[in-house]
Amino acid sequence: MREQLRTIEERALAELESAADEAALEAWRVRFLGRRGELSLALRGLGALPPEERPAVGQVANEVKQRLETAYTARRAALEEEAVARAFQAERVDVTLPGRIPALGRLHISTQTLREIYDIFTRMGFAIYETPEIETDELNFQLLNIPPHHPARDMWSTLYTDREGVLLRTHTSPGQIRLMREMCPAPIRAILPGKVYRYEQVSARYEFMLHQVEGLVVGKNIHMSDLKGVLEAFARQIFAGMRRWRFRGSYFPFTEPSMEMDIECVICGGPGCPVCKYSGWVEILGSGMVHPRVLENGGYDPAVYSGFAFGMGPERIAMLKYGINDIRYFFSNDPRFLAQFG
Ligand code: PHE
Repeated sequence: MREQLRTIEERALAELESAADEAALEAWRVRFLGRRGELSLALRGLGALPPEERPAVGQVANEVKQRLETAYTARRAALEEEAVARAFQAERVDVTLPGRIPALGRLHISTQTLREIYDIFTRMGFAIYETPEIETDELNFQLLNIPPHHPARDMWSTLYTDREGVLLRTHTSPGQIRLMREMCPAPIRAILPGKVYRYEQVSARYEFMLHQVEGLVVGKNIHMSDLKGVLEAFARQIFAGMRRWRFRGSYFPFTEPSMEMDIECVICGGPGCPVCKYSGWVEILGSGMVHPRVLENGGYDPAVYSGFAFGMGPERIAMLKYGINDIRYFFSNDPRFLAQFG
């Protein structure tokens, strides 16, 4: 019987070594240490031994049982340790690796250009106002000296809404009337930036939505020379290194006299290229002295007050500054284009 106990112990210890997981370990425990396990079964034979041998054999059996239990506990602990080590290995984080740099956003090229414009004009004492993008025909046209059916309406391809007399503003000039009515009789020195909308066939040169920045100065003794000085100061800053510019007589119903400002073509520098249509000059804005009737519509007496106004397109300015030859790039959201700025 001692022999039998020894072989059980040997077999049990050998098999314990190969129990590789929780389930195998449990099966082993049931098989060798369970109530109906091999050891218990062997001990049933104890009764058949002569009484004087029983204590010694019983003691051996207890020792075997104890050794198996100890081995079992040790094996169990080893398996658990292995499992933990495996989990640590699998979830290992190498804290010495460089982090992933998240893609950073940037300001849109139009926003950047607008902010440059704001900086230049606020340094000259201009305030910034915003007025609605959805306008009435009255403010967008009539109060700016453009009555219904006036041929000058053709200067702007207009997007109308299905509400009679309501449209998407075609320019920021209706803001002139709004601001004058709010400020009258105080003097005004402000710019009015925002989006404008046009009913255009979209092409390299035309978009149906773009930005404008309107300028308006109203007060006593405001002259054309003030307008020219402000525009020159502006152009010199936004087009750093600009050498030549010119004012060219023009027509807008809401200014009289009216003029456009050209600068020497910043793309070719003068000799001529497709951007300046081989003239060496590019137009950057429209302007003029506020028409007396427009001053009146804003509440100012044109016998006492005078003013000037101008309107420019930041997208056009950015196209000239950076040599962008297609306005559609601005709002088609291609990151290859946008990422080049800022
Ligand atoms: N509103 C004009 C346009 O959209 C520009 C302009 C503004 C001209 C102010 C003169 C004075 O073309």
